[in-house]
Amino acid sequence: MQIYLDYSATTPPRPEAIATMQTIASQQWGNPSSLHTWGQQAATVLETARMQVAGLIGAVNPETLYFTSGGTEADNLAIFGVTQQYSQPQHLIISSVEHSAIAEPAQRLEQQGWQVTRLAVNRQGRVDPQDLKGALQDNTVLVSIIYGQSEVGTLQPIEELAKIARNAGVLFHTDAVQVAGRLPLDVKRLGVDLLSLSSHKIYGLQGVGALYIRGGVKILPLFGGGGQEMSLRSGTQAVPIIAAFGTVAELAQQELMAESDRLRGLRDRLFDRLGDCSDLIPTGDRLHRLPHHVSFCLTEAAAQKSGITGKTLVRQLNLAGIGISAGSACHSGKLSPSPILTAMAYPEASALAGIRLTLGRDTTTADVDWTAMVLQQILDRLQCTRNNLQLTMYN
Ligand SMILES: Cc1ncc(COP(=O)(O)O)c(C=O)c1O
Repeated sequence: MQIYLDYSATTPPRPEAIATMQTIASQQWGNPSSLHTWGQQAATVLETARMQVAGLIGAVNPETLYFTSGGTEADNLAIFGVTQQYSQPQHLIISSVEHSAIAEPAQRLEQQGWQVTRLAVNRQGRVDPQDLKGALQDNTVLVSIIYGQSEVGTLQPIEELAKIARNAGVLFHTDAVQVAGRLPLDVKRLGVDLLSLSSHKIYGLQGVGALYIRGGVKILPLFGGGGQEMSLRSGTQAVPIIAAFGTVAELAQQELMAESDRLRGLRDRLFDRLGDCSDLIPTGDRLHRLPHHVSFCLTEAAAQKSGITGKTLVRQLNLAGIGISAGSACHSGKLSPSPILTAMAYPEASALAGIRLTLGRDTTTADVDWTAMVLQQILDRLQCTRNNLQLTMYN
């Protein structure tokens, strides 16, 4: 039995996405910048996809959407596109639970003399809007706060945060990569200036994303070249996978309500099933939460006593045919605690022992029940083995 529960890492491309990509790659392979028939056919495909993706986020004008190579590039374009307009370092505000595609550019700016405020979060991973109010300065030029946190599933109060930034005349960006296709998105209602998306998180193909830039907001391109994407993202567009992005955006929009309700039901069932396991603590916010996202870490006592890390659990579940992911990262062979769980004030042992199970279109009730049972058995076995080992050593 094989159960994939890592839909936040990537989603299997829908058959409709593959069909679109194949059709376009074989029939409309022209360069969309070319003026002849072949080019103009590809340009039409591109503009259809732009409309479809714009529809998913409620952007009335499709020309506010700029295709990129993915969510990472969209995030970098937002951060550097805004900040590189200033000849002198200014002030940037992010949260302490950003994806590395925001956290690392911010760190790079800091090395270049920019002042970066990382807003603290509570135990559930939420930012307090009052903290944003307090952090704004005369020289703040951008606020970037992740909408749906990928590791712990917490949703931020984006509408409220964006309003605070807007009232202060500061641009507001959100990384909505994990939210798109899972919850309704409406850039106007949210009041954001910039918003990042990625195709492979919504059953499209890897290698394409988009940045929404509200009309009238000026940013600079990251690289020079042929001036594609309305001069903001040079480089010939990957038309077949962009077309597939359009296809899945439209389907996601149609299926959004039913699918997010279904996922929410499965998510809560998995939380309940694992709730009896005294060694596990649910992480993130249970109320303000991505509908497909379940995450836990080990209690400090269990993690210290057993020496189990998130990686151990990922490996053990993989042996049982179940694919999940761990929060902690491995740098140069050394496991480091998850920066997200650390920012949420979890002790180091727990921050090394975080896991994430993310559900999707193919996930069934049986998958959820089976996974909960297998995880419970693995934990019992690992704890037991460890205790027996210790007994043997002491004897
Ligand atoms: C919240 C978030 N932002 C950005 C990214 C990067 O997206 P991409 O893989 O398309 O570069 C990811 C991917 O894991 C993500 O979860």
